[in-house]
Amino acid sequence: MLDLKEKTINEEWQGEALERENPNSNGRKVYIESYGCQMNFSDSEIVASILEKEGYQTTRLMEEAEIVFVNTCSIREKAEQTVRKRLEGFHKVKRKKPEMIIGVLGCMAERMKTKLLEEEKLVDIVVGPDAYRDLPELVKEVDGGRKAVNVILSKEETYGDISPVRLGGNGVTAFVSITRGCDNMCTFCVVPFTRGRERSRNPESIVNEVRDLSEKGYKEVTLLGQNVDSYLWYGGGPKKDFDKLTKEEQDSSVNFAQLMEMVAQVDPKVRIRFSTSHPKDMTDEVLHVMAKYDNICKYIHLPFQSGNSRILEMMNRGYTREWYLNRMEAIRRIIPDCAVSADVITGFCSETEEEHQDTLSLMEEVKYHFSYMFKYSERPNTLAQRKYEDDIPEEVKGRRLNEIIAMQQKHSLERMKADVGKTLEVLVEGVSKKSDQELFGRTTHNSVAVFPRKDYKIGDYVMVKIHDCTSATLIGTAV
Ligand code: SAH
Ligand code: SF4
Ligand code: F3S
Repeated sequence: MLDLKEKTINEEWQGEALERENPNSNGRKVYIESYGCQMNFSDSEIVASILEKEGYQTTRLMEEAEIVFVNTCSIREKAEQTVRKRLEGFHKVKRKKPEMIIGVLGCMAERMKTKLLEEEKLVDIVVGPDAYRDLPELVKEVDGGRKAVNVILSKEETYGDISPVRLGGNGVTAFVSITRGCDNMCTFCVVPFTRGRERSRNPESIVNEVRDLSEKGYKEVTLLGQNVDSYLWYGGGPKKDFDKLTKEEQDSSVNFAQLMEMVAQVDPKVRIRFSTSHPKDMTDEVLHVMAKYDNICKYIHLPFQSGNSRILEMMNRGYTREWYLNRMEAIRRIIPDCAVSADVITGFCSETEEEHQDTLSLMEEVKYHFSYMFKYSERPNTLAQRKYEDDIPEEVKGRRLNEIIAMQQKHSLERMKADVGKTLEVLVEGVSKKSDQELFGRTTHNSVAVFPRKDYKIGDYVMVKIHDCTSATLIGTAV
């Protein structure tokens, strides 16, 4: 089975359908396919929950569905092309089956608004990420012969009270959203436009959701946000900085470090992960909480995007190369045995050969366990599209990307080799793709390990002695 995050690597975007029995079924079946980041997969579970309450039944088979929803991503052009092909495919099916309803959800719905519906006539429903509560009403509109749209973004909506139905999962690992939207305005990025303003979810509802997952036998929870470090609860509403809060709000506020501590205390047998950390906001306080709790995984995904301060400035990332390396140094100091991974963009506007070398040298300095590596893809209406020219030729972007990938592969292998000979705790997530006689799971460092199955089950914590590896997998036996 493929990790959701791995799906984003090298832009191999894949849809995933979800299915669950509904005892109160109204007989109408819905097929939901998701693309993009973990947030979108998590949102699809919220969508399923909202629809289930109205009696809809989710199905894994598109053929038997009356309603088809595609939860979409806009992050790179290729992501949108994949979705578009898929929508065209569904549209063909609809010609033979006119009663079928096709809806587009998520970031592309928000970005394109009524375009997919009016100009291209590909879909019947368009719903943005903050309007999912309206879905049952929108379906009714379509039943009544109209097209339906809701792309209103909200400053408050967190779906905090909705307990997502867990679909298509392994019953062991789950995502829990803690913030929505993003206020950072990195110049290359569509997310602030597709997901709206940043807002934090009530910590009580987060802790309750984690407790519920633990009672249902889940063993790992990943807290999700575009920038988890800027989580700040002060009673609800749009994001505010701590020093802009009233004294009263400050006293009762909860920041990310405090939230993580609350979540870690729910159940010592439930592992905690989080994604994504932002170099400009990641505090030592967060690192100290990580060091304090055994059940918080020693792994940080800390995107750097570029190793060059001029490019980082143009990207509006809010930090320099030196600041980033200082954060890395803090990680090493406070959590000596912590794995790190990153996102990197190559060929951003005006990036010179020397600046590209800075990216490589930063990678050499850090030696990431793994990375998600992308060629810059200009997105309509972003600040970079308006301000800068996308002037790095495609073949240069491609060559630079290959250099980055080659370096990462070398580092991944080095990092994996360093684990050979060790005995590591692995949480079993499933049966290996290659052989049903083997199980796979993850170490605290988020490295995948495979080992002979014996009598172990999905959801077990197993001590595995590692005797071999590739750049992507540790190979061992249970001890
Ligand atoms: N909020 C996260 C990133 C979310 S998007 C963060 O700030 O780290 C995931 C990754 O996609 C980004 O980290 C970036 O590396 C990549 N990305 C975003 N916009 C892109 C674009 N226009 N072209 C290429 N890659 C992009
Ligand atoms: Fe996009 Fe930057 Fe926000 Fe990440 S932090 S989602 S890259 S704007
Ligand atoms: Fe894509 Fe939207 Fe996530 S653009 S990466 S699905 S926030």
